[in-house]
Amino acid sequence: MANGLDDVVAAETVLSDVDGAGGHLTIRGHSLTELAGHWRYGQVVRLLFDGFFDELPGDDELEKAIGNARVEVCERLQPMLGELPALDVYSGMRTGIALLPDGDSLADALRLIAVPAVLTPALLRLGRGEKPVPPDARADHANDMLRMLSGTASPALAKALDTYLVTVCDHGLNASTFATRVVASTQAGLTSAILAGLGALKGPLHGGAPGPVIQMLDAIEASGDAAAWLRNEIARGERIMGFGHRIYRVRDPRADVLKAVVRRLGTRYETGSRLAFAETVEQAALDVLRVAKPQRSIQTNVEFYTALLLEAAGFPKEAFSNVFAAGRVAGWIAHAREQQATGRLIRPQSRYVGPAPDLVA
Ligand code: ACO
Repeated sequence: MANGLDDVVAAETVLSDVDGAGGHLTIRGHSLTELAGHWRYGQVVRLLFDGFFDELPGDDELEKAIGNARVEVCERLQPMLGELPALDVYSGMRTGIALLPDGDSLADALRLIAVPAVLTPALLRLGRGEKPVPPDARADHANDMLRMLSGTASPALAKALDTYLVTVCDHGLNASTFATRVVASTQAGLTSAILAGLGALKGPLHGGAPGPVIQMLDAIEASGDAAAWLRNEIARGERIMGFGHRIYRVRDPRADVLKAVVRRLGTRYETGSRLAFAETVEQAALDVLRVAKPQRSIQTNVEFYTALLLEAAGFPKEAFSNVFAAGRVAGWIAHAREQQATGRLIRPQSRYVGPAPDLVA
């Protein structure tokens, strides 16, 4: 039996398709490269939500509604903002989401999109002893996230973050999306379903990988020998973060999209030397993995260049999974609505391998 449900088809979806052999990602009939860098996040939210909510407004109106939702959740969560920085930034965001009503309307969905974008910068600022910057309803979503983080947002960084949010907005039946769909299949509300997704995303085998990628790059820089450091990790039974994928047997197409974004930022944001170093580490990791795991094609995944992009955008590594959630929440919501519409409870079987009860005559 496959403990990881490998190759099991557990849902039919119109939302996205991951072609692991070809290295292609399709989102509602569009290739990733058609969307990333060309569509704004708000437009992609509309693409994902289309057909799953009554009376979905046009792109501009929906983006305005997302902006209004940022302001609304900021006001709603204001009274407990002082308590949340006692938690780590991911748990603080999750707690903020848990405080939302558990409905299924578009307004509920937009609040869920707004919370990671608003709370992540606010919690980071509070953690640094700074006052949060309130959201601006008229600003573009990514631009506003950066403005709330550092007070200003350069067009280049806002574009980079927007491209990131689009790149990670949906990705087939990954662990967090599956968790979301399981909860949605019980006809629980969107907040409950999204909390399940958030729980699954946190782990380092899924959305928790990019923070450790930065730790790895820093440790390798300090050691001065990438190949030796990586070989030692493998010998200790550790996994190399930012490499390998359950579905992709070739390079994750999102890695190339994000690497190109980091390269474009290069000269202006001095990420050039960081990128060059990361490329050296990437090549060393691919070489070491090829030798250590010849039975498995282990390639670069989305998290490797996510780490560089979010670092350049000014997010500390402990907040990387929050920013991932800020993008993926749109996909989770659409999947939750798609699952609810089937009316079918997800309830697989387990095979009992424990002891039989003692039968007393
Ligand atoms: N480093 C070292 N070895 C690896 C790695 C890695 N990154 N990935 C897989 N392997 C090895 C395993 O140790 C195993 O080796 P073995 O057969 O000698 O025991 C073999 O490859 C197969 O591993 P599985 O766990 O069966 O592969 P799976 O398809 O489940 O792995 C996963 C997918 C969990 C993502 C894995 O590649 C991994 O742990 N990567 C590192 C963490 C990471 O980058 N996560 C982000 C993924 S992208 C995302 O979720 C957004």
